[in-house]
Amino acid sequence: MIPVTKPFLPPQEEYNKLISDIWCRQWLTNNGPLVNDLELKLKEYLRVPHLLYLSNGTIALQIAIKALGLKGQIITTPFSYVATTSSIVWEGCTPIFVDIDEQTFNIDAKKIEAAISENTVAILATHVYGNPCDIEKIQIIADKYNLKVIYDAAHCFGTLYKGKSVFAYGDICTTSFHATKLYHTVEGGAVFTNDPSLLKTMAYMRNFGHDGPEKFQGLGINGKNSEFHAAMGLVNLNYIDDILIKRKELSLHYDFTLKNLKKQKQVIYNDTVYNFGYYPIVLDSEEITLMMIQELEKNLIFPRRYFFPSLINLPYVEFIELPLSESISKRVICLPLYHTMTFEDVDLISRLLLRVQNN
Ligand SMILES: Cc1ncc(COP(=O)(O)O)c(C=O)c1O
Repeated sequence: MIPVTKPFLPPQEEYNKLISDIWCRQWLTNNGPLVNDLELKLKEYLRVPHLLYLSNGTIALQIAIKALGLKGQIITTPFSYVATTSSIVWEGCTPIFVDIDEQTFNIDAKKIEAAISENTVAILATHVYGNPCDIEKIQIIADKYNLKVIYDAAHCFGTLYKGKSVFAYGDICTTSFHATKLYHTVEGGAVFTNDPSLLKTMAYMRNFGHDGPEKFQGLGINGKNSEFHAAMGLVNLNYIDDILIKRKELSLHYDFTLKNLKKQKQVIYNDTVYNFGYYPIVLDSEEITLMMIQELEKNLIFPRRYFFPSLINLPYVEFIELPLSESISKRVICLPLYHTMTFEDVDLISRLLLRVQNN
């Protein structure tokens, strides 16, 4: 069986060593030493000034919206995981969808201005599959209309834009360390900001608003993560460079074995060092997409229609016609890509796809 992804698992002894230390300290959660150590090591590895380690990438988005005090309309992309939109709605704001760029699959920055109204307060854009948005253009628009910018960078561990981690851009950037991500802490996420006072607000927010045991700074939630999760993050960080290299090698092998497949590939934005987070292909029609999925599944290979459906179809948002995201979401498949996958697996998947095309 070849699933779309398999979580990276480090040598068990290395994880067990950190777990034994937890047993000795009997400190399981609430800003423990491993959480602190992970935050320091992540800052060092990513070369970012500030981050907070959180329980998941969805709470990261919710805390970002709350910390910026957003109330009103938030411009966003319909081509993302549901958490991008659901967080906006969960925080009592209204998502205003703007269609995507046909090549990068990110929100089309050229179309943002037309969607701005007097109630617009922010732009929440996803760096889709780890590919940076048009960060400069989005910032120019945000400055012109006095809007906040949040990036959902759930797919972006390891991506650099203009020589810096892509996590360093936006008023707040969020990520996910879920087990399906190339770097993970089982469950987990983070917020990044360059603004120390926003960081402080979010630090209170992730811990119920506590300012000491009996005093509260403001409204908070439980966004903390545990020592067990941090332990996985610390051990996995030792392997991140290997993980990134292996994904690149597998992706380049797909490029080679699929060179005769009729498809569209995502165009990676200028000045980017890409992390090979996913291997998406967009086929000519939904019909051929479904035929290819069926053929793979018959052979116990499970790709994913990611992202499908386009988020304008969610039952709790107002539907509007956004043809590019609708069309791409119907024709996209993310092919299997994970650390322990072999080049032979890539060969097999490619042969099956080509067989469907050629029959
Ligand atoms: C683009 C995007 N945003 C947000 C999330 C939510 O992250 P988490 O699962 O850690 O809550 C995901 C997770 O898959 C995602 O892909």
